[in-house]
Amino acid sequence: MIKFTGLSKVNTAIFISGTGSNFKNLIKFSLLKKSPIKISLLVSSNSQAKGLKYATKYKIKKKIFKFKNQLVDEKKILHYLKKNKINFICLAGFMKILSKNFIKNFKGKIVNIHPSLLPKYKGLNTHYRAIKNKDKFSGCTVHYVTSKLDSGKIILQKKVKIIKKDTPFSLAKKVLKNEHKIYPKAIMKIFTNL
Ligand code: GRF
Repeated sequence: MIKFTGLSKVNTAIFISGTGSNFKNLIKFSLLKKSPIKISLLVSSNSQAKGLKYATKYKIKKKIFKFKNQLVDEKKILHYLKKNKINFICLAGFMKILSKNFIKNFKGKIVNIHPSLLPKYKGLNTHYRAIKNKDKFSGCTVHYVTSKLDSGKIILQKKVKIIKKDTPFSLAKKVLKNEHKIYPKAIMKIFTNL
């Protein structure tokens, strides 16, 4: 794995597709002295993503790749990441599924946050599914990205209680709050074993 010596931070790219609240939260974390990562690049699959504004605000380089032709775009992204000496990638609400080849190029260096207690509810509509199944708990998971969707090794999880009156919307809100807590913690765990 990548070493964090405390002298120089790990050069990191964040991938998003939407609101970017996790992106914003990771930027704030990355600016702390104790943070092992430095965010120097944002990749968005959506030119309208609200999260793009945080890249502007915090002066982080941004690139939009719409994935119309995934193979071509992934090639361009890989080139861009290498050019910018990126060696760690955090997916944060990134709605595209990266190819095996892409992942191979960053083996063990891509992590994702998923809004469920994996291995439960891989994929989409996690909150709806948890409520429909009358689960007592949901939560969120930070995990390594492998070529099998939402199936890589789990780094950290946080449980969230589901109450009777929860809707997918209210549950999403509660889970998201906890995502903001565990994503930085998971990154600390990866690089410093804290
Ligand atoms: C989060 O719930 C994340 O777990 C999921 O998509 C949502 C993104 O939220 N993959 P945001 O864009 O970080 O606000």
